[in-house]
Amino acid sequence: MLLMKSIIILYSYHHNNTEKIANVIAKILEAEIKTPKQVNPEELQEYSLIGFGSGIYGENLHKSILDLADKMTQISTKKAFIFSTSALAEKNSNHKTLRKKLQSKGYVIIDEYNCRGFNTNSFLKFFGGMNKGRPNEKDLKNAEEFAQKILES
Ligand SMILES: Cc1cc2nc3c(=O)[nH]c(=O)nc-3n(C[C@H](O)[C@H](O)[C@H](O)COP(=O)(O)O)c2cc1C
Repeated sequence: MLLMKSIIILYSYHHNNTEKIANVIAKILEAEIKTPKQVNPEELQEYSLIGFGSGIYGENLHKSILDLADKMTQISTKKAFIFSTSALAEKNSNHKTLRKKLQSKGYVIIDEYNCRGFNTNSFLKFFGGMNKGRPNEKDLKNAEEFAQKILES
């Protein structure tokens, strides 16, 4: 059993792409997974590590995650990480709003992860979608390595 108590707050609805990544990370960190709705901002104080995961919708993490960050209590220093799946390779640039909100509450962002996810949003559904099969084995392996690095940090 790990000494560190971890939680992942996840919003994944389009094709459960981000959920696949969350499951891999949660297994390594022995973290429980909850949706923003299932979390009371006060209870987050019990955790020493908090992960935030979401698909990218309109160039940002889901609004329910951003709203939760707004409600979170100011703390001195705690660790957090952010991960996402998106249609386009975005190299964590769409994490900016959440990153800033968390930092302003005293969180240290130890690492961030993004990979492509299957997307059938809007007109794409007529063409079979884009990024079929993503996240793939390699994306999951990279997520595993990401979690392993967090564990060692
Ligand atoms: C309403 C909507 C808006 C989206 N906006 C973006 C976007 O701005 N940039 C992007 O790269 N992908 C965008 N996507 C694609 C999703 O980020 C991608 O499919 C992601 O893997 C979905 O994650 P999920 O299955 O965990 O919900 C959008 C998808 C939907 C449904």
